[in-house]
Amino acid sequence: MIRRAAFATASVLALGLSLVGARADSPPIRIGFIVDLSGEFADYGTEILNAAKLYLAQHGGAIAGRKIEIDAKDTGGPNPEVAKRLAQELIVNDKVDLLAGFTLTPEALAVAPLATEAKKPMVIMNAATSIVTEKSPYIVRFSFTLGEIASVLAKWAAENGIKKVYTLVSDYGPGVNAEGAFKKYFTLAGGTIAGSDRSPLKGPEFAPFMQRVKDAKPDALFVFVPSGDQGVAVTKAYQDSGLAGAGIKMIATGDITDEAVIDQLGDAAVGLVTAFHYSDTHPSEANKEYVKAFQAAYGSKLRPDFMSVGGYDGMHGIYDALVRLNGNADPDQALEILRREKFESPRGPFWVDPDTRDAVNTVYIRKVERQGGRLVNTEFKAYPDTKDPDKTK
Ligand code: PHB
Repeated sequence: MIRRAAFATASVLALGLSLVGARADSPPIRIGFIVDLSGEFADYGTEILNAAKLYLAQHGGAIAGRKIEIDAKDTGGPNPEVAKRLAQELIVNDKVDLLAGFTLTPEALAVAPLATEAKKPMVIMNAATSIVTEKSPYIVRFSFTLGEIASVLAKWAAENGIKKVYTLVSDYGPGVNAEGAFKKYFTLAGGTIAGSDRSPLKGPEFAPFMQRVKDAKPDALFVFVPSGDQGVAVTKAYQDSGLAGAGIKMIATGDITDEAVIDQLGDAAVGLVTAFHYSDTHPSEANKEYVKAFQAAYGSKLRPDFMSVGGYDGMHGIYDALVRLNGNADPDQALEILRREKFESPRGPFWVDPDTRDAVNTVYIRKVERQGGRLVNTEFKAYPDTKDPDKTK
């Protein structure tokens, strides 16, 4: 793990988490979070949880006299078996009303059958493989899918002089999803695939892949790896291997230039083109306010990233549902509200497709720029209302 985000409960409380109106005799509304708070993906869960707590702190911590309690469990993942056990504990022992969080796809997949059996709405704040929402009718996703992002990047690449691409993805759900969507939409737009590789999820070495890419002589290398250590490592391997000098560009999903780690990529990353649904420099008032509030709560060194926005917007959805139900967490009624959520997010316009319960995003094409003392993802083209392509007929 590169950077452990501070979990600053104290400063969130300082923001004024209001329990006014919570009656001593009313049972709390319990939200069980399953997130990675330790291990390689600790930053993910921390960003999600920090942002969800921020949303609550900004909106008041009680609804209709019932206090809202977050019960967060750490999978230390990737760890699907642990996620399943923790979900069982949350449902049976802690009697949570809803399940939320879900940083990694394999953990969300492991919990999905339990959500169905126990009839608990399961709010996905990251896990971004297309099939996740199909694994339980109780799942609603407030993040994105790799298919959304990769299909848009494929179209953009084909329209911008890139004719032949080599794909390199992490060998698990989101990577396979990104590879499939990229190949499909790039070839539909007239492009050719020069070759494809998949790197292991745990402990990948990227240098040998770069040699194979060089030998295949594509115009560009398309990459998806989970954000964090691997994004930094794959970018360094690309830079060290001389691919840029050989005229081979790198294009990627924005996981690699995640704001939590982007500064570690160094100036060699300037100009790198990615597609994604969130940048902390997205030029809207809603985002400026969000970044300001996030940093006021957690410190100016911590930049909110796409994980945080999934947590913030997921909590927004849950909060809306509970307000509209006047503090009654009836699962089926909550689900009906969650699947129709539509609001202005820090990422831009956001809505859930009621038919698929999946996130609909504006996907942006961005490039890495140096702005002041830091690297940023500057959005320069937008593809509004992008749905998961696997679910559109
Ligand atoms: C996922 O496991 O679904 C996942 C993890 C990290 C990412 C994107 C998706 O950057």
